[in-house]
Amino acid sequence: MPLSPRDWHQRFELQSQWTQDTRDHLYSRAGVLKSQRVLDVGCGTGVLTKELSQSSINSTIGLDIKSEYIDIAASFAPTAFLSLGDAHIMPFKSSVFDFCLCHYLLMWVENPLAVLLEMKRVTIPGGAVLVLAEPDYGGRIDYPQKLAVLNEWQTTALQNQGANPFMGRKLKAIFHQAGLNDIEVGVIGAQWKNATPEHELNSEWEIIQSDLEFINNTSEVVKSSEEIRKIDLAAWATGERIIYVPTFYAWGKVIKD
Ligand SMILES: C[S@@+](CC[C@H](N)C(=O)[O-])C[C@H]1O[C@@H](n2cnc3c(N)ncnc32)[C@H](O)[C@@H]1O
Repeated sequence: MPLSPRDWHQRFELQSQWTQDTRDHLYSRAGVLKSQRVLDVGCGTGVLTKELSQSSINSTIGLDIKSEYIDIAASFAPTAFLSLGDAHIMPFKSSVFDFCLCHYLLMWVENPLAVLLEMKRVTIPGGAVLVLAEPDYGGRIDYPQKLAVLNEWQTTALQNQGANPFMGRKLKAIFHQAGLNDIEVGVIGAQWKNATPEHELNSEWEIIQSDLEFINNTSEVVKSSEEIRKIDLAAWATGERIIYVPTFYAWGKVIKD
């Protein structure tokens, strides 16, 4: 069954926990929280927008192409300004934001370089563009080995939805092509300290079920997914399970022309 906007909101909240440490580090390193105006592009239901709007930043603006997400963001992040629009042609004047950032966006857009150039355009000289999280499923690790099929399914499902599952590796190239300065690129690390909470496992399997709808031979795949689910849950229970999706970040400064 397709996930509702509310289900996606919960998923976005979970994803934001995975990137919290990197975000804190990059916000501090890039000086994001000292800014007057910050734009969150592809803000979804406003998970990061809310966090930014509750910080020392004077005004936080969120932009998204889906009105159902903007509606949720309006109640979730009530002190932020929200705008409905396309990241390829943003409804903002040039050089108006100190920082322009995005989180799990570029893999979903038609032309990531055009979006990055647009983010640069709306950022003031001396400001910076920050892309916080772009996965690359080509480097995903699943253990036990039988679970590698999950990556095959997810990669196909993403491609069938028009997303680029290999966006992460391209981030460095497009930052250079966009003419950003003092570019820093990295990959978010991972730790497996505690048992994974049940709600996180349920969320993972909700995403897998939703992905299966975007794959051919669905009935055959659905049948084997039941077996894979058992192997997955057993591996979490014994503590063996590893899942790692390399997730890239990058930031660069906007210099006066
Ligand atoms: C994976 S979600 C991430 C949402 C949010 N950044 C977060 O991390 O919670 C990707 C978001 O990008 C938005 N999006 C996709 N293409 C877009 C475009 N061309 N312009 C603006 N937003 C877009 C989607 O509507 C969705 O909200």
